[in-house]
Amino acid sequence: MSRSSSPAGVSRPLPLPPGFLIGAATAAYQIEGAVAEGGRTPSTWDEFTARPGTILDGSDGSVATDHYHRFREDVALMRELGLDVYRFSISWTRLVRPDGTPNPEGVAFYDALIDELLAAGIRPMATLFHWDTPLDLERRGGWRRRATATRFAEFARIAGEAFGDRVDAWVTINEACTVTLEGYGLDVHAPGIASELAIPIVARHLLLAHGLAVQALREVPVAGRIGITNVHTVSVPATDSPKDAAYADLFDFLHNRLYADPVLLGRNPTPPRGVGPLGAALGILSRSSARDRALMAQPLDFYGLNYYFPSRIAAGPPPPGTGNPDGVSEAMDRAPFHLQDWPEFEQTGFGWPIAPEYLGVVLENLAERYPALPPVIITEGGASFDDTLDDQRRIDYLRRHIEVAAADPRVQGYLVWSLLDNFEWAAGYTQRFGLVRVDYTTLERTPKASYHWLRGMLSSRSSV
Ligand code: BGC
Repeated sequence: MSRSSSPAGVSRPLPLPPGFLIGAATAAYQIEGAVAEGGRTPSTWDEFTARPGTILDGSDGSVATDHYHRFREDVALMRELGLDVYRFSISWTRLVRPDGTPNPEGVAFYDALIDELLAAGIRPMATLFHWDTPLDLERRGGWRRRATATRFAEFARIAGEAFGDRVDAWVTINEACTVTLEGYGLDVHAPGIASELAIPIVARHLLLAHGLAVQALREVPVAGRIGITNVHTVSVPATDSPKDAAYADLFDFLHNRLYADPVLLGRNPTPPRGVGPLGAALGILSRSSARDRALMAQPLDFYGLNYYFPSRIAAGPPPPGTGNPDGVSEAMDRAPFHLQDWPEFEQTGFGWPIAPEYLGVVLENLAERYPALPPVIITEGGASFDDTLDDQRRIDYLRRHIEVAAADPRVQGYLVWSLLDNFEWAAGYTQRFGLVRVDYTTLERTPKASYHWLRGMLSSRSSV
């Protein structure tokens, strides 16, 4: 690999092993816009964002970055950047009509996107569920109903039949724990429900949905590899008090083991004791049948890991007045534990600690807990920073995280979150994660210094 200077003036190249994939990731509701066009019907996020007070800046994804109309320009940016992989999500309500039949305009949109990517030499990685549940299904109980898992598998089959010849890799579900905890536990994300009791039920149905979708894709059969994406963290007690330790264990259970254990070990994790009603409610998970457990544990071709930051956990609700740009709700104020700061680490725009060393710990923990861990692809990593084109902090963040990822032989690639600034869920447009800046008035795209840095790095590699 030759040394080269990027326009951002960063000259040290990253030691990427041969074949290590670099990509960028996005999600449909966060970038597509055009929510009422092309036969798309509403999802839970259309309804949730319309409720007053749910989104920090009162915004929604109705226009977002207008990727639906500008995807050719976005693929051109990716080609220029030299990406190996582009991970996008398929909007369920764009692809499938409420009567369960494929929507031809939705099929045409993703067909065109995938063909454009292939023509640019970029491998398409498609996520089936990045949190945008069809609203009509949610009104019938959403993920609290087992039938939603069956409907999800039908959607997977439609996507597989339409795009299975060209998609390089499939992710069934993105961060099931986030939709479970934030959407059904804390009322911070769609569908906006705050119920401890919903958590284990939703978890079971998302796990079944994953298993059924893997089966459906394999039956089609699709040509690409199949995996799931979970977000992992390291859960550390804030003090050595037994209470903090118990809640750190609960957080580890909810974030790290709830979805990974059934998928990678074929069994449900044992909920910690002494953590109140939620711990007891989680016990119902262990009552799933052997047949369901087998369904959840379909063999996978890769394991998608999203890593953002480590978590320091303290018992008790957050101190009054604690700000949380990641979304606020009354349920959050009543939660039995809270996250504390890490003063020793610098912070992102969201206040998240920047701790690449903990990515290494996450990878070690995964290898230790899951002897049959498939190859890992880091399907998301990145940070929000100030709205500036000179985003040296993002360059530093990415360089340090990619260095850790590339040093681990289990990891096959690192995908940056995100290609573009976009709609950041409950934080609306207040947090910018993009390699490319989006002007939300004109929708003009402008590559940031991090884009130029990554481009320099990718062009100086020997071929993948
Ligand atoms: C999600 C993305 C989100 C990112 C930054 C991940 O948890 O998959 O949709 O934008 O984090 O918050």
